[in-house]
Amino acid sequence: MQNSNSGCSSSQIIPSEMLTDEDIDFRQYLSSAEITAIEHDVAVMGNSEAAGIEALKVVQEHRGWISDDSLLAIAQCLNISSAQLEGVATFYNLIYRQQVGHYVIHLCDSISCHLTGYEDILHTIKAHLGIGYGQTTTDGEFTLLSNACLGNCDKSPAMMINKKHYHSLTAESVIAIINGLKQNVEQEL
Ligand code: FES
Repeated sequence: MQNSNSGCSSSQIIPSEMLTDEDIDFRQYLSSAEITAIEHDVAVMGNSEAAGIEALKVVQEHRGWISDDSLLAIAQCLNISSAQLEGVATFYNLIYRQQVGHYVIHLCDSISCHLTGYEDILHTIKAHLGIGYGQTTTDGEFTLLSNACLGNCDKSPAMMINKKHYHSLTAESVIAIINGLKQNVEQEL
């Protein structure tokens, strides 16, 4: 039986369902900063299963998304099965299992936003960026995803980009927000 309280143990046995042709040694794959943060989360949460979502967030924060290799390495580090961790990642829609852009637009498609202009906002984003749901712009800067209620119903329509919430959206304000972010990227280059 696996010990779920051990965190990133160096003596753990890799669960058989995790074995792949290119078996991963999490100590080689994850950075020391990632391992330290995951171990901290395990200590705070009390067990590896509970720390799964936090561990996924840690690695996503460093790498932008959770590849299959990342998932395997995190699961090995936590000493839980990759299937178990995949279940956590799938349930939590802010964990990206595919590569995403520098900015990830989560557009709320729940009822209040539908009643206050969601379709217009969606059309504007699609037309302005040339992408649909689940797609990323060719320059790798923006990904568009749908999202359930973001909690801004009284100021709908709403969206979230990289943890920042935007509300009371209009076609004009959405374009201004996106263009502002594009400028940020250009200034960083
Ligand atoms: S329905 Fe869109 S923020 Fe609640």
